[in-house]
Amino acid sequence: MIEKLIEVKDLEIYFKENDFTAVKSISFDLYEGEILALVGESGSGKSLTASSIIGLAPLNSQLKGQIYYKGEELYPNYPVKLRGHHIAMIPQDTLSALNPVFKVGEQVYEAVDIWRKDLSKTEKKNLVLKTFADVGIADPETCYEAYPHEISGGMRQRAMIAMAVINEPDVIIADEATTALDVTVQALILKLLKKLNKTILFITHDLGVVAEIADRVIVMKRGEILEENDVFGLFENPSHEYTRELLASIPRV
Ligand SMILES: Nc1ncnc2c1ncn2[C@@H]1O[C@H](COP(=O)(O)OP(=O)(O)OP(=O)(O)O)[C@@H](O)[C@H]1O
Ligand SMILES: [Mg+2]
Repeated sequence: MIEKLIEVKDLEIYFKENDFTAVKSISFDLYEGEILALVGESGSGKSLTASSIIGLAPLNSQLKGQIYYKGEELYPNYPVKLRGHHIAMIPQDTLSALNPVFKVGEQVYEAVDIWRKDLSKTEKKNLVLKTFADVGIADPETCYEAYPHEISGGMRQRAMIAMAVINEPDVIIADEATTALDVTVQALILKLLKKLNKTILFITHDLGVVAEIADRVIVMKRGEILEENDVFGLFENPSHEYTRELLASIPRV
């Protein structure tokens, strides 16, 4: 049986200061091994949804509803131990996600160090180098020794993917993880993510990217889920007018 890894039930995210409900009672499940895309226009509530799953909803937000990880309820007391280990995130902005004064490799090493007290220093460093190679970094040693600004955006994104997968999380959340990259690098990274065979919640506003990577798709608008469909169904037979509009707006090449 395919396991349900994340269950979001009637999630509502409310901001008191401007009396604004950004996410309006949404429910969905994320199953083991699938890539589920969360798409929708800017401000539709994608990042807020993702950040609540990883326990990083804004401090000024109020959450209602439930989020479960393998049946365990995550709120109100989010188990911090899940983050980075069982549920990992690939950020959009890799330059600000990495600390400019530490070497890229050292920062990934730190991520290993937190969880793998069983490994020696050499083993931990070797694990970083191996994972760099796994995510297609051609020269792992050089990347390890580089500072974030010394490598390209595509390389940084690979290093962040390495950081996300190195502790073998069950779930990866990628929030616009390829948006900042140019199209050829984006295609390589998407291919790589697909090859990882991981459970991924993939957030994007780009339906072209959805077609490349997703198994299932959730379309959000103004904090609501308008459509949930498998990727073929979405493109062949969208059930919602808004999805049809989104599809029509994809530039044809
Ligand atoms: N900390 C906050 N305080 C108040 N409002 C917020 C806060 N964070 C997000 N919002 C509002 O909630 C709504 C949803 O935000 P969210 O970041 O989830 O959108 P998104 O779908 O990820 O958009 P984008 O595609 O631009 O990243 C937006 O209207 C945003 O302004
Ligand atoms: Mg966002």
